[in-house]
Amino acid sequence: ATNRTFTMIKPDAVQNGHIGNILAMITNGGFKIVSLKLTQLTVADAQAFYAVHAARPFYGELVEFMSRGPIVAAILEKENAVEDFRTLIGATNPAEAAEGTIRKAYATSIGENAVHGSDSDENAAIEGAFHFAGREQF
Ligand code: CMP
Repeated sequence: ATNRTFTMIKPDAVQNGHIGNILAMITNGGFKIVSLKLTQLTVADAQAFYAVHAARPFYGELVEFMSRGPIVAAILEKENAVEDFRTLIGATNPAEAAEGTIRKAYATSIGENAVHGSDSDENAAIEGAFHFAGREQF
């Protein structure tokens, strides 16, 4: 079925000038952009967005990284969106990311890995609603 996922182009990739190339990989991959904005997470926003990781040793580093500069937030639509988008972005650790994936091309480390992709339909809806009002979802 056609469904939606949520993505962020993370501060490392925005800072390094990769917004245009990453959006091109996303649309060339067959995803339709239904919401899109340049924004920045506050520390509190990043803590809330990543609350599921609060007990992890890298949580503080993750929150600091994700709030340090602008990000691009987007909702994407495609057949099998969540799974296909995770395939397109590649493994969390860029050293393990397949050729042709966004992280292979643009991630610098396991923490600064260029893009986020939701891990389930349920989380895609929660994460999309975190960033976009109903009138911003097309
Ligand atoms: P993502 O999978 O989008 O969401 C959780 C994030 O936590 C992950 O991307 C990385 O940015 C970060 N992360 C995961 N594992 C580590 C780690 N071992 N060290 C630092 N950051 C990590």
